[in-house]
Amino acid sequence: MRTSIRTHLLISLLVISIASAGPLSWYFLQEVQSYGIRKLEERLTAEARLLTAIAAETGIEEQDALSTALRETALEANSNLAILDSEGAPVAVSGDTPASGAELVNLPEVRSALEGSVGVRSRPGADGKIRLSVALPMLENGNVTGIAMASAETFSRLTLLRDHAPTLVLLAAIFTLATFLLAEILSRWLSRPLRNIASSAQMFAAGDLGVRVAPQGPQETRTAAEAFNTMADQVSQMVDELKQEERRKSRFVSDVSHEIRSPLTAIRGTAETLAQGDVDLEDTKRFLATIVKESERLSRLAEDLLALQRIEGATGELPMRRVRLRSIVLGAVDSLEHTTSERGIDVRVTGDAPDVLGDPDRLQQVIANLLDNASRHTPQGGIVNLEMRHEGVFSVVSVSDEGPGIAEESLPHIFDRFYRTSASRDRTTGGAGLGLAIVQSIVKRHAGEIDVENLTPKGACFTVRLPALKD
Ligand SMILES: Nc1ncnc2c1ncn2[C@@H]1O[C@H](COP(=O)(O)OP(=O)(O)OP(=O)(O)O)[C@@H](O)[C@H]1O
Ligand SMILES: [Mg+2]
Repeated sequence: MRTSIRTHLLISLLVISIASAGPLSWYFLQEVQSYGIRKLEERLTAEARLLTAIAAETGIEEQDALSTALRETALEANSNLAILDSEGAPVAVSGDTPASGAELVNLPEVRSALEGSVGVRSRPGADGKIRLSVALPMLENGNVTGIAMASAETFSRLTLLRDHAPTLVLLAAIFTLATFLLAEILSRWLSRPLRNIASSAQMFAAGDLGVRVAPQGPQETRTAAEAFNTMADQVSQMVDELKQEERRKSRFVSDVSHEIRSPLTAIRGTAETLAQGDVDLEDTKRFLATIVKESERLSRLAEDLLALQRIEGATGELPMRRVRLRSIVLGAVDSLEHTTSERGIDVRVTGDAPDVLGDPDRLQQVIANLLDNASRHTPQGGIVNLEMRHEGVFSVVSVSDEGPGIAEESLPHIFDRFYRTSASRDRTTGGAGLGLAIVQSIVKRHAGEIDVENLTPKGACFTVRLPALKD
């Protein structure tokens, strides 16, 4: 069964208050009753003592005089008084006539008094009250000459309850009402923050990832609210990352398809023209060259994508070994010899740097890509500088050119996949825009850094920093 906090609290509070109020009230009534009996005993003892004094003065034989004196005293005292002789037979009596002599002698308090000590007895009286009687022996030279008796009724727990019933009912009602009120207040205090957390969790589950709970109520619900918020933060962060990843993937796929489409279109168009025949030898040669060039572009794209995938995919470690940076740089320059010389570019290699730990083929690919970009952006006959140096914990290679540099708005994206500056986008001869993405991936896999800056008065400078090995 699903019960609310309010019901739980209400039942608990009622059980607690009834369980504690019942015995407590009973104990309290018991104390009041004992007090009443004690007080009555004191009074009756005093009255009995007065009787002994009267009897001593009047003389126990003077029945009539004693009776008169007794009645007067009893009127004031509001008790039943009696004087008995040394045999326990009544001599003078006020109020209710006590039992006959024979029965009186059998009363425990009378018997105690006859033996010379004070007798006290309480027993149920009329109407639920308690009847108390005190019997005092009158002594003369150690002999019991008579007994003074006083008895009266006092309240009991029962009569107290009965007499104060309306007040008690009222108190109980107020008590119950207060309990209800307390349960209500407490349950609100406890359940409102819980309800907040619950409804926020539902909203969160329904997709509102921005929902957070204000911590309120007791410590535990505050902690729960804070825990919810932390969880919500983490989940929304994860969702953000997943969404971003998703966007990156879909952009990647559309970029790849886009890159594939243009060479394919070129190849198909050229092939179709050729298929129609009626093309002279010169044009046929030109068209075939286009087909070859576009196919090369396609296979280079495939190679680059594979390279990226191999570097970035966590599959397998790169074959790392101690590498002399200078030989890497010279190897890259060699591999691009025909492009640079064709354009009349003067490639200068200066300085030196400590060895690094790396995959030589990949590192050469880094330098070759940078050199390729630099020489393609440098005007014919210009200079491209490859400078090596030792910089703190790094071995550094920088590639600077005399080209137009990189536009301010392109700088943050230059290493993104498929990113091309608008200048080179216009040029149909440009690559796919994967070169720098590959460069950056390789450098990162080598625990290195790469950055780019523009030179004054012109040109761009790419700087690669790799952790230097000690000699
Ligand atoms: N040295 C440079 N000077 C000016 N712009 C450059 C330089 N190097 C690269 N860029 C520009 O940065 C962009 C990205 O370069 P990246 O090497 O990644 O691609 P790409 O050279 O166009 O194609 P790919 O290298 O895949 O053949 C290109 O648009 C390119 O024009
Ligand atoms: Mg490039």
